[in-house]
Amino acid sequence: MDKTFYVTTPIYYTNARPHVGHAYTTLVADTLTRFHRQRGVDAFMLTGTDEHGINIERAAEARGVPIKAYVDHIFEEFQAAFAPLGVSYDRWIRTTDPAHEAAVQKLFQILSDRGYIYKGFYDGWFCGNCNEFKDVEGDAENPICPVHERSLDRVSEESYFFKLSEFQQPLLDLYDSRPEFVQPEARRNEVRSFVSGGLKDLSVSRVSVKWGIPVPGDPKHTIYVWLDALSNYITALGWGNDTYDGFERYWPALHLVGKDILRFHTVYWPSFLMAAGIEVPRTVFAHGMLLSGGKKMSKTLGNVLSVDELLRFFSADMVRYFILREVSFGQDGYISYEAITDRVNSDLADGLGNLASRTLTMVRNYFAGTPPRPSPDDEFVADVRERINEAKVRFDGEFQSLSFSRGLEAAWAGIARVDKFITENEPWKLAKDPASRGKLEAVLATAYEGLRHLVLLVAPAMPESARHIWRQMGLAGDPLTISPNGATWGEAIDVAKIEQISPAFPKLNKEKIMAEIEQQNDAAQTATQPADTTTQAAAPTAQTTAPTATGPTTTASEAAPLGATQAAAPPTNIISIDDFIKVELRAATVLEAERVPKADKLLRLVIDVGEEKPRQILAGIAEHYAPEEVVGRKIIVVANLAPRKLRGLESNGMLLAASVGETGKPVLATFGEDVPNGTRLK
Ligand code: MSP
Repeated sequence: MDKTFYVTTPIYYTNARPHVGHAYTTLVADTLTRFHRQRGVDAFMLTGTDEHGINIERAAEARGVPIKAYVDHIFEEFQAAFAPLGVSYDRWIRTTDPAHEAAVQKLFQILSDRGYIYKGFYDGWFCGNCNEFKDVEGDAENPICPVHERSLDRVSEESYFFKLSEFQQPLLDLYDSRPEFVQPEARRNEVRSFVSGGLKDLSVSRVSVKWGIPVPGDPKHTIYVWLDALSNYITALGWGNDTYDGFERYWPALHLVGKDILRFHTVYWPSFLMAAGIEVPRTVFAHGMLLSGGKKMSKTLGNVLSVDELLRFFSADMVRYFILREVSFGQDGYISYEAITDRVNSDLADGLGNLASRTLTMVRNYFAGTPPRPSPDDEFVADVRERINEAKVRFDGEFQSLSFSRGLEAAWAGIARVDKFITENEPWKLAKDPASRGKLEAVLATAYEGLRHLVLLVAPAMPESARHIWRQMGLAGDPLTISPNGATWGEAIDVAKIEQISPAFPKLNKEKIMAEIEQQNDAAQTATQPADTTTQAAAPTAQTTAPTATGPTTTASEAAPLGATQAAAPPTNIISIDDFIKVELRAATVLEAERVPKADKLLRLVIDVGEEKPRQILAGIAEHYAPEEVVGRKIIVVANLAPRKLRGLESNGMLLAASVGETGKPVLATFGEDVPNGTRLK
């Protein structure tokens, strides 16, 4: 292990609220930092917010809020979302920090002085959400970003360019000579093949974007937001400014990023650094996406899982354990309330939690709370001792190579071994026979000692639970500061008497959780959709009431007010054409309709949207329309909403209806002329 360790997360755009997808990298980085620190390494973790650029300018504008006030508010939301997850970063950088801004200008100047920047003219397409120029084939009039499915902006303006084309060979050499630079291997191959195809010079300034860092000596240009953002990894350590003197100490970094921003980190960033004569990062590791409802979380799809919603049902450590254990780092993985509940119950409540409770309860009952210590002569426990040592070695190896899931699997193999050992030796029977006292002592000494080592092992992943069990074990100090590798089997330790034992992970009631979520969804739906006239497809969480709902599809994450910030500047209802284009409205005919048992408001409709097969949707109109009244009707549906389950039935869209009068009586929207099914409304 190196003496120092520097890990970074991407810095998060302050144009949308934080969700568990953002928290993902941050939790992994936090766990890794704690893992290294526990082993005596001088570790530093950086996270932060990316606060410049057209996407942020637009988000603030859409809410009628001054940009700085807007980014300040979202920055606070990010910090507030991460805090209850027990994230302990060393620095939170904001790209609007004056010291960062000055250092970015310095970097730009160095690139220019070294001959890597020249002035030219950019004429092409740009995605404000990717913050990336896009190659568009042919002369499409309204090209769409394939990632965000939104219109691209035409940019035709003077621009500074970075000579990226000169870095094709140096980058290929870098990937080949240091295979650890891009990980996992599949990502390295992907980037290598992209770079092999040739690199064009990169536009690194914009005249039409005002919210950014001015180009030194030519302030009508602002510095390209990715050059600004990527630089955070060095400016936060004090490169180019005097806020901190960590650059010499910690650089180069391990960058943890989502696979969607791989290219920026493995092509642009090392090129900027090489051009400036700065050492490139140690490794860029690209992880997969957390998928909710089978899709990447996005506010457009309405399947966003927010951190605070999750924390209503699960502790921070449960969420931490789930994402480290369930998702193989580097691959995409599914997250849902159901899956978390299952993992928690099987691995935490029945696994680690149960081992801790049964061991400590027996120590309290049979040894008056003072745990016996292992003796080297107890040969029959040798296998357990070896398995624990093996778990420790495997755990460290896997964590070093960022295979967290396999690392935890190794720890859980240790837990299972101790559990089995207890069951096989039946200490509850030994306790009844005074002649077996010696064996009872050996069994519980082994179980307790095994537990002690395992708690140290899992502490970086589940800090609070580890501390909780550690304290109940009567052990002194903080498990986060004791290296499992320094802990030896049977060493002398200070132990206080075990007294209070409370479960570290109470078993979760899955049915109750799922029922609450369904109820919450129904409530959110009623609130966002006046008189329940429409059926909204959405994932089970972050959809909360938008106080001034602008329409049936409004979600809190899209248009909710910005607390105090926005109170000062009232929100506007104005959306851009890009926002509207996202909503796919189509003509459809109702083929079948029936009431949904035990749901007074819901009708189940089978509709023809001009697709190969009819779709099922649920609509909250049953109090005003009988099923036979709607069969055969031409309706308008939002066809691209993520599927959602209501009363166990899947809804694949939402019909439109006016909500009339005080009661909000629904009146179905339709056409005055015949329109074929599937026709899009725009
Ligand atoms: N601001 C840039 C990063 C600049 S780094 C110098 C950015 N910001 S972001 O807020 O859009 O995304 C930040 C990170 O969150 C990315 O790594 C992205 O992959 C990650 N995630 C966003 N949604 C995610 C999931 N659903 N699952 C996992 N990670 C996700 O890009």
